[in-house]
Amino acid sequence: MTSKQPPSLLRKAKRFLARSDFLRNQYGNLRYLSHSLREGLWWSVLGGAAGTQEQTKQAILTWDVALPAFADAREMVAWLQEQGVTVHEGFYTFYIPPQPKLAELIPAVAELYPETAGFKILKDFRPPTQAHYLHGGELAARAKLVGSPEEQVVTANYLHSLGLGPRVWDLTAWKMGSTSLSVFVVDHVAGGEPPLGECEQFLARLKELTATSLLRITFPNWQGTKDFSCPGCNGNLIKQDATGELRYIDFQNFRISDALQWREQIVSEGTEVFHFGGGRPLRGKKYLYQAIPGFKQSAKRNTGKRWNFLVEKLKEANVEFAGRVVFDVGCNSGMILNSALNAGAAWGLGWDRPRVVPFTTKILHSLGTTRFHITGGELNEEYPLLGDISSRLLPALSESVVFYLSVRQHIGLLKDLQKFSWRALIYEGHQGEAESELAAILHPLIRDGVKLFHVTTFTDGDSAGRPLAILVRER
Ligand SMILES: C[S@@+](CC[C@H](N)C(=O)[O-])C[C@H]1O[C@@H](n2cnc3c(N)ncnc32)[C@H](O)[C@@H]1O
Repeated sequence: MTSKQPPSLLRKAKRFLARSDFLRNQYGNLRYLSHSLREGLWWSVLGGAAGTQEQTKQAILTWDVALPAFADAREMVAWLQEQGVTVHEGFYTFYIPPQPKLAELIPAVAELYPETAGFKILKDFRPPTQAHYLHGGELAARAKLVGSPEEQVVTANYLHSLGLGPRVWDLTAWKMGSTSLSVFVVDHVAGGEPPLGECEQFLARLKELTATSLLRITFPNWQGTKDFSCPGCNGNLIKQDATGELRYIDFQNFRISDALQWREQIVSEGTEVFHFGGGRPLRGKKYLYQAIPGFKQSAKRNTGKRWNFLVEKLKEANVEFAGRVVFDVGCNSGMILNSALNAGAAWGLGWDRPRVVPFTTKILHSLGTTRFHITGGELNEEYPLLGDISSRLLPALSESVVFYLSVRQHIGLLKDLQKFSWRALIYEGHQGEAESELAAILHPLIRDGVKLFHVTTFTDGDSAGRPLAILVRER
């Protein structure tokens, strides 16, 4: 026989909470708020300086996709499936893995990105600047903790740099009639559910990283939640067929606690390699070659001043960056590519010495930049530059812009620059080089409609003046 106990105060309070939506919401918000405080993510919920460092500045490409104007995600998924497109539907997004059909449906989009790219579309049918990953009655504090799509790019890049998540190639908009969708372009992770033990090891590493790195998980008490339960973590953890490594695909479960600190870490590890030519002993250990935006570190070159000058001059020649492929030979920390992508370039390709490349890639990632590839190589005049350009970018070469800044004395003038008909080439010489030498230096390039559009001596940062020439091919 059981005697009926009077309900405890706690039980009474729980019942009361369960009956009140308002109180349940407040309780939920408080849980996320206290989680954000514990994890050093308070700024994401309450607003603060750290967040301002965390948003991609890369221009968002808008694609006019010739698809019907769907009212919502359900309609779009059903239509795509009717066309024979494989679609995986999740709670907040649906994902279109790479497949031949995409070249037919969205040819321009499929052409720009690597053929391993898949498209993760937010069900919140708004453009990236307005859409939210979590939508539809989510707790306000949780939504802020997860962040906007533009903020998520930096976290996704961080997850990738730790070897935990896939590479993100872009955050872009697909325009269909008056609707614009937010689309993450990610490198497809092909594989299957990992064995239990490997999943457990992965989660143990994750736990360690949440204590020793800037990686944080957006769930309070995440261990044991569906998304972090072995072996498959609710379909999020995949063992890659190609490498056997595990990748966690849903980056909204993570947040970087301080994007600026990440950048500082990369710079302090990479100062030696970015610090090309010995730098300036009196300027201290962290003196860089190129100034990095948002980062108060002294540098030899003033990226902002250089970039503003080049944009203005190229505009006079009717060459703007939107939609162009940009090459930077001897790109150093990649700040010229970064500026070009922020100005709307479709893709950036950079080259530098092999030991420089990992740092360049990381610095660009820490700035939220994604549409680029950096190749490592010891360049010289004979270097086959064209061999590094993916065939998907070849149709864009005739409208491309090439930067050849302060590298000729190290690598010569690459012969391959004569083998494709770039639209503009910006040449910058070295300290001590004279404007009067430019015509002779650039002679091999001034043919097939190429004109010397502008010549000057340019001075910025701590550098002495350098001769600079803008070559433009007339069409
Ligand atoms: C003086 S810095 C110029 C960097 C950048 N172009 C700029 O103007 O801001 C020269 C760059 O060329 C790279 N470099 C020098 N010799 C090279 C070589 N043989 N192959 C590839 N890169 C090289 C250096 O690592 C460095 O990043």
